[in-house]
Amino acid sequence: MARTILPNQQAKAIAIALLKQGKIMALPTETVYGLAGDATQGKAVAAIYQTKERPHFNPLIAHVSHVAMVERYCVIDALSRQLMERFWPGPLTLVLPLKTDHTIHPLATAGLPTLAVRQPVGIFSEIVEAYDKPLVAPSANSSGRLSPTTAAAVAQDIGDKIPLIVDAGPCRVGIESTIIKVTDIEVLVLRPGGLALSDLEEQIDRPLAIVDQRAAIEAPGMLQSHYAPNASIRLNAREVFDGEALLRFGDQTIANSENASYMLNLSEGGDTREAAVNLFAYLKILDDYHVDKIAVQPIPMVELGIAINDRLTRAAAPRSFAD
Ligand code: TXA
Ligand code: MG
Repeated sequence: MARTILPNQQAKAIAIALLKQGKIMALPTETVYGLAGDATQGKAVAAIYQTKERPHFNPLIAHVSHVAMVERYCVIDALSRQLMERFWPGPLTLVLPLKTDHTIHPLATAGLPTLAVRQPVGIFSEIVEAYDKPLVAPSANSSGRLSPTTAAAVAQDIGDKIPLIVDAGPCRVGIESTIIKVTDIEVLVLRPGGLALSDLEEQIDRPLAIVDQRAAIEAPGMLQSHYAPNASIRLNAREVFDGEALLRFGDQTIANSENASYMLNLSEGGDTREAAVNLFAYLKILDDYHVDKIAVQPIPMVELGIAINDRLTRAAAPRSFAD
């Protein structure tokens, strides 16, 4: 069983000693907990895929501690650099071309000529800075399960497979990073996430294009259903059917609410940021209650509502495979 420790100097020293040995561990970020390992060591990267039972063709995000670290591995265009400087550390991931002589292990990129990079908030970045090499980290859940936003959720899912969990409390954003790729003509959004697209739009000089993940094969892993709780999910519910649990949003009215087996409100005040923080945690609560059907009230497509609807749509999709 994993040793769970607080994010202090001792945690850093233990993490670095483990990383040197090619071991992997769960580390907190502001979005979700990540399952981290040395991006340059095949042994570590393989252990991440194995622990999550994740398909090998779904590439990982490399976590860095500053823009200069990205420069060692990738070619950075002017707008990508500007966005990193503006939003890092934070929930923005950029896909960049790799330099030919890079040392990132090919398993981490699934053989692609690009690398997804981001600087997370907090102790994760401090560990990367001290280790002085990028750490790849997918969300610290088994493939197909909910992304964990607490150390306890990590422990329950994969705690018996890893040596260390660093516990920094609940994640403050609660939903995975927004992933983009800058091209000469536009900024492609590969995954809506914890950085609102409206915040991104203010900083760019070209159109924002949301890639239909079901159509565009930027990364194969983005196409499938994931982020799934055990229960089936019904979106945009205006009434509750017998036996369903209800995920509310704001103070919208709903018919037959007396049918709900459980009721949780993602944000009573109708705030999408608060709803993002609660989303995975509440789905997990309903899983722990062994609920088998969840009705979700409409969530507006503003700010983090775009990312929340993306995750819920995937959770509602037929199950295939996941990350
Ligand atoms: O907030 C986050 O992004 C969290 C924390 C731990 O940083 N990480 C996370 O990782 O959500 P993961 O592995 O669950 O999602 C990474 C996504 C996948 O959809 C993958 O296909 C995409 O990033 N990706 C990785 N490398 C890529 C690349 N070179 N080109 C396009 N997409 C890429
Ligand atoms: Mg994930």
